[in-house]
Amino acid sequence: MALLEILTWPDKRLAAKSTNVDQVDDEIRKLIDDMFETMYFAEGVGLAAPQVGVTKRIIVVDCGVRESEESSPLTAKEPLAIINPEVTIQDGKIAWEEGCLSVPGYTEEVERSAKVTVTGLDREGKPITIEAEGLLSVCLQHEIDHLEGVLFVDRLSRLKQEMAKKKLRKQMEEEARDRAV
Ligand code: NI
Repeated sequence: MALLEILTWPDKRLAAKSTNVDQVDDEIRKLIDDMFETMYFAEGVGLAAPQVGVTKRIIVVDCGVRESEESSPLTAKEPLAIINPEVTIQDGKIAWEEGCLSVPGYTEEVERSAKVTVTGLDREGKPITIEAEGLLSVCLQHEIDHLEGVLFVDRLSRLKQEMAKKKLRKQMEEEARDRAV
């Protein structure tokens, strides 16, 4: 396994749309293993392939939700790797304080669907269905957004987006200054 470099805002590659995976082979499984290692190392709860520079529809999530805590039967358990994920059902509204490994040092409340059903393929290429609520629901929607080139900051109001970008730019300038001296 290998740690991968996580792209950070405003890297343009984060805004690209990812394409479907046609064949789930060893190369894809190796990428999934590396994505999990990278996510755990960075102490994140989810990671999407475009965040490591691969514009393929693959996400990994581990929000710490285990089978015993689930109210509905699932065909898959966390940690989850989903290939070609799609939200097929969504219900209700939930506001959650989100962050992102590609937007370090910034969190903000985002409104999303409270419950989602997501379908896709597992690492063996078999169809899976995940019913999720709470943090797992938020996390799945956040990661699937990455596949469309959408960051959580893109979902904020114009005013909050401006404030976020100002803060992130300042942070980057400070980091550059620290490196320079
Ligand atoms: Ni993210």
